[in-house]
Amino acid sequence: MKSPVRVVVTGAAGQIGYQLLFRIAAGNMLGDDQPVILHLLEIPPAMQAVQGVVMELEDCAFPLLQGIVATDDANVAFKDADYALLVGAMPRGPGMERSDLLKKNAEIFSVQGKAINNHANKDIKVLVVGNPANTNALIAQQNAPNINPAQFTAMVRLDHNRAIAQMADKLSVGTHELSNMTIWGNHSSTQYPDISQLKVNGEVVKDIDHNWYENDFIPTVQQRGAAIIKARGASSAASAASAAIDHMKSWALGTPDKDWVSMAIPSDGSYGIEPGVIFGYPVTCANGQYRIVQDIPISDFSQQRIDATNQELREERAAVEHLFS
Ligand code: NAD
Ligand code: LMR
Repeated sequence: MKSPVRVVVTGAAGQIGYQLLFRIAAGNMLGDDQPVILHLLEIPPAMQAVQGVVMELEDCAFPLLQGIVATDDANVAFKDADYALLVGAMPRGPGMERSDLLKKNAEIFSVQGKAINNHANKDIKVLVVGNPANTNALIAQQNAPNINPAQFTAMVRLDHNRAIAQMADKLSVGTHELSNMTIWGNHSSTQYPDISQLKVNGEVVKDIDHNWYENDFIPTVQQRGAAIIKARGASSAASAASAAIDHMKSWALGTPDKDWVSMAIPSDGSYGIEPGVIFGYPVTCANGQYRIVQDIPISDFSQQRIDATNQELREERAAVEHLFS
């Protein structure tokens, strides 16, 4: 049996936290042979609810769950942490853009970035889910100067999965038959779901009606979060947790041959993106490291959309630069 790893989930009493914790403890994220110690971080008013979650986790008698730390102190939560899923933040309601949350949630990520810097394992893998996820990840990263900046990532995997589901439906194939989907940029309505490299069973997909692609598929994927808020009266939770599991699993355990996944990661300037912003890229993962897929041909149509989401991320960064340590 491997030694246990410590996994932090913030917002542990929230909607996503409630889905996520049980799947991590069941081995869905890091594998059936990886014991875990869960660290649950919440704010003081939610600590009673967290105790209920702890009782339920105990009641599952998960063989891989070797301990639980529940706390409202970030310095305790991130102590020796190997993985962190930063979920705890306010969700948007009807009529809001995710960027409307920037001021409300930014402070959370600067405090947690500092706690990660001071207490976590130096190789910690961080995934930011709380919105606006890309720029919150940048805030956390900028407050953690002693941690490799590449260890801070944000979630566009939900968008990636949504795009695959929409295309599978359009092409009347199973989701498992599709590969090489890409989400470029921000987890926002400027994101660009790019199907130019999409394959079905290894064959490039051709003959997609461009009008449908531009005026139906792209807006459907971009606006899916808002459609769910309208339908449920609350933002996506089970699908978000599932995508977070997928993101961390790919990063920790690797991606399949001949496929890639979309992760928002610090730009190294690839594809002309502003260096440093946390940008959704196609990546492959192996040995716990991700690598941007290079040399994808970019059409004028794609370039315009990549530029728009790049510009939005630069503007978001400018709005929070005062929070960088
Ligand atoms: P929720 O309101 O149900 O839960 C959030 C929890 O975070 C609450 O229990 C709250 O007490 C806690 N919290 C607040 N501040 C905290 C802090 N400083 N430390 C620890 N915990 C804190 O919300 P939710 O539905 O679980 O969504 C959480 C976030 O995830 C939202 O910002 C939402 O917009 C975002 N989200 C992102 C994606 C994505 O694809 N990136 C998808 C879905 C939701
Ligand atoms: C989503 O995409 O479902 C989440 O980011 C929630 C939201 O605000 O859209």
